[in-house]
Amino acid sequence: MALDWKEAERRLERAAAILNQEEPVRVRSPLSVGVDLGTADVLLMVLDASGQPVATFLEWAEVVRDGVVVDYMGAVDILRSMVNKARKRTGMEITHAATSFPPGTDSRLSTNILEAAWLEVTHVLDEPSCVAGLLELDKAAVVDIGGGTTGTAVVLDGRVVFSADEPTGGRHLSLVIAGHYGISFEEAEELKRQPGAPGILDLVRPTIGRIADIVNTHIRGHNVERIVLTGGTCCLQGLAGVLESELGLPVTLPVQPLLLTPLAIASLPLHNLGRGAYTNPGPTLERG
Ligand SMILES: Nc1ncnc2c1ncn2[C@@H]1O[C@H](COP(=O)(O)OP(=O)(O)OP(=O)(O)O)[C@@H](O)[C@H]1O
Ligand SMILES: [Mg+2]
Repeated sequence: MALDWKEAERRLERAAAILNQEEPVRVRSPLSVGVDLGTADVLLMVLDASGQPVATFLEWAEVVRDGVVVDYMGAVDILRSMVNKARKRTGMEITHAATSFPPGTDSRLSTNILEAAWLEVTHVLDEPSCVAGLLELDKAAVVDIGGGTTGTAVVLDGRVVFSADEPTGGRHLSLVIAGHYGISFEEAEELKRQPGAPGILDLVRPTIGRIADIVNTHIRGHNVERIVLTGGTCCLQGLAGVLESELGLPVTLPVQPLLLTPLAIASLPLHNLGRGAYTNPGPTLERG
């Protein structure tokens, strides 16, 4: 059963409230575990039997880029350490997990890392399709703007009919900021994340325009009446408004956009989506 928007936002607020908290809690099993191996960060989310977040761990780390693992052992180490923290916090063994991958890339990119971290992969699905599966949607496109890529899933009557991904994301915004101010990429990342930092939105407006072009290409020919955003880049103040005017469609921005995709991944087992861990969907995924 898909979640209504209010309940999804309650779970996102809960996940944010417990971010990187290690203190033990009492939980109701069975647990559902999701791992999001992104371009910018690794995120592990654990839900209890009712789908409520009970552990959320995030580490900023560049372990994959443009569909390639750039730091395999780094990713495995981070994940093992997060699993260990989640095990101590919940008092439960963590042996199974769901994960995701950018549309059009090989799902083994993620599943190999989970297995190396001693996790059995039970569910795997492309990133925007995970979010599409979590929410009640019709004639909508889920747009996941992460660190490295923008992924779109078009949903008609609860069913994903198309998904695709292009390599433009938050990283490209940071590169523009770094180039303009003559600062390092890391300094630009920090500046970008300061709420309402003056001048930043205007500086990155052309790159947001490029993201809007990508989304427009993805949704062309489909009956899309609204956009649902996810991904950390959507935290940028004013980005949703720029996209709305560029796309000419209503745009919904969740609270905690950084956590929506991980919540959706962790929810795959609860919604029984993404079974069959090793299918490579090929360059684009068309489901009729
Ligand atoms: N407050 C913020 N303002 C602007 N950007 C932010 C903010 N917080 C995080 N980001 C950006 O969000 C991006 C990370 O988002 P996310 O975790 O969704 O990406 P990812 O899953 O690692 O990447 P991908 O899905 O492309 O592989 C980074 O580029 C980061 O700079
Ligand atoms: Mg992502």
